[in-house]
Amino acid sequence: MQKAKHDRGGEDRPREREANGEGARRRVAVRHEGERPAERLPVILTVQPTEDYALLDSGGGEKLERYGPLVVRRPENQAIWQPRLDTSEWEKADAVFTGDTDEEGMGRWRFPKSPLGETWPLSHEGLSYLGRFTSYRHVGVFPEQAEHWAAMVRAIEGRRRPARVLNLFGYTGVATLLAARAGAEVTHVDASKKAIAWGRENAGVAGLEDAPIRWICEDAVRYAEREVKRGSRYDIVLLDPPRYGRGPKGEVWELFEDLPYLLDLTRGLLSERPLLVVLTAYSIRASFFSLSALMREALRGLGGTVESGELVITEAGAEPRGLSTSLFSRWMPDHGE
Ligand SMILES: C[S@@+](CC[C@H](N)C(=O)[O-])C[C@H]1O[C@@H](n2cnc3c(N)ncnc32)[C@H](O)[C@@H]1O
Repeated sequence: MQKAKHDRGGEDRPREREANGEGARRRVAVRHEGERPAERLPVILTVQPTEDYALLDSGGGEKLERYGPLVVRRPENQAIWQPRLDTSEWEKADAVFTGDTDEEGMGRWRFPKSPLGETWPLSHEGLSYLGRFTSYRHVGVFPEQAEHWAAMVRAIEGRRRPARVLNLFGYTGVATLLAARAGAEVTHVDASKKAIAWGRENAGVAGLEDAPIRWICEDAVRYAEREVKRGSRYDIVLLDPPRYGRGPKGEVWELFEDLPYLLDLTRGLLSERPLLVVLTAYSIRASFFSLSALMREALRGLGGTVESGELVITEAGAEPRGLSTSLFSRWMPDHGE
């Protein structure tokens, strides 16, 4: 049996998916022709401690992180080893995820030093945004994505005309804002009104309220279908789907059922000279070999290379260990543009 709640995003697992029931989708992935892109694996992308973010310690099923000015303590299934730091260091945390009430939002956090608001100021390489205490132990950002953001920014900055970016399952918009700051036109799609509002708020904090960003509250598959019909094209597509999720009209998203179809739609949305396709999967039942095989099938005939591996955060301090957070697979062309 899989667990009802997955690691990210907080979407409940949909009940039975009836073949013809509301929200159910039965999509058949297309068989593509042409050569598969080359393959590079395993690629382990790691995040080192910075001023903006550091993994201070991990162990005993928890992690201790510094997000800008705040030290945050929260559960981490992958931290099956023993912590390196003394208990006294862990006790200095500004915020601890307790998860012990059914309340939404901050009710599930404890603030041992002084009461904190729902948000606090954060930045990533000079881009300001807000950290956020959410009811699913998340803090509004997934810092291990930094290497993908860097690859995306390099690709955008290397292009003469503004790149077009589609960010599906865009959450609080950090990737969207980094893309916009680098000069891209961005379409940000998320099924949650709250997430869209957070994204817009972050755009304000980053001083990017007037940047060319379209904020779309919509089911990712529905939106991609519509864009394919409209003949829209994107140079960069980011896909960071949860394991289970719901669109605003109750559309069911299940990673293992819907991903092949969504990748086909993504294929149909790529511009003539695409720059990057990034897929991350925080659902550890999958392997990066499977993600790689799927991406190479979906992107047959496109040339380039699919590289796949894991996203890892390196601890701060002596003898740091690497905390694995997710699997990924990404496609890139062989020679620039
Ligand atoms: C955990 S987040 C992605 C994280 C983000 N891209 C990042 O790395 O910071 C997953 C997001 O998918 C959204 N979501 C869930 N089901 C969806 C669906 N069917 N269509 C679009 N977005 C969906 C959730 O609202 C949530 O914001």
